[in-house]
Amino acid sequence: MRTPIIIANWKMYKTIAEAEKFVTSLLQYDLLAEREIVICGSYTLLYTLQRSLCGYQNREFGAQNVHWEAEGAFTGEVSVEMLRDLMCPYVIIGHSERRQYFNETDSTVNKKVQAAVSGKLTPIICVGESLEQRKSGDTLQHIQKQLAIGLKGILPEEVDDLIIAYEPIWAIGTGETATAEQAQEVHTAIRNIVGEKTRIVYGGSVKPNTMSVLMKQPDIDGVLVGGASLEVDSFVEIVNYI
Ligand code: PGA
Repeated sequence: MRTPIIIANWKMYKTIAEAEKFVTSLLQYDLLAEREIVICGSYTLLYTLQRSLCGYQNREFGAQNVHWEAEGAFTGEVSVEMLRDLMCPYVIIGHSERRQYFNETDSTVNKKVQAAVSGKLTPIICVGESLEQRKSGDTLQHIQKQLAIGLKGILPEEVDDLIIAYEPIWAIGTGETATAEQAQEVHTAIRNIVGEKTRIVYGGSVKPNTMSVLMKQPDIDGVLVGGASLEVDSFVEIVNYI
């Protein structure tokens, strides 16, 4: 049984005061207890998220990036050990914005995944195709390659515990969601690689009204939400989907 997981990706949004206000308000809602929530904020928000979510079951937080080295002269970077120090359980790795703007590749993704797994952090590994790749019929091949490299050296029992996020690049922040069938097709291909235990989430313009149909798909175990996770009301609707 894979617990449904709703992951907020706040990207480069929110001050500490805004994050505190969001979480205080979120925890006042009647949230379905069996839905796991993970809020991924900027590094500056992690301490606040840790303090305000501490003690609530199934209410977690995560970082949006991590460096693969344990420590060293890497100005501006944050290590797995530093995240562990904050008791941060999750980290997003290889988001398409990081691949696009910060030159992350499948092999740097793999180094980060290896570091996270050895440090007992749960990576949320993002994969997804561009519009050109979808149009030319290369979607599945591209995702298979991203995973083959991204998961190199990770043992099957370790793969069971991590999370794969399928995020078609053309659907991120565009208002254009993949149809449930399009998403399920890719999730099936990912399932064939990672097995039955790994949670596979969909991301890309997820909104409250697209949740039910997405979550009905047998291989969609949750969502990674950007824009619609910034407002408490829409985020609560997403968490409490029917
Ligand atoms: P979006 O972002 O929901 O705003 O499309 C999703 C993501 O980038 O993770």
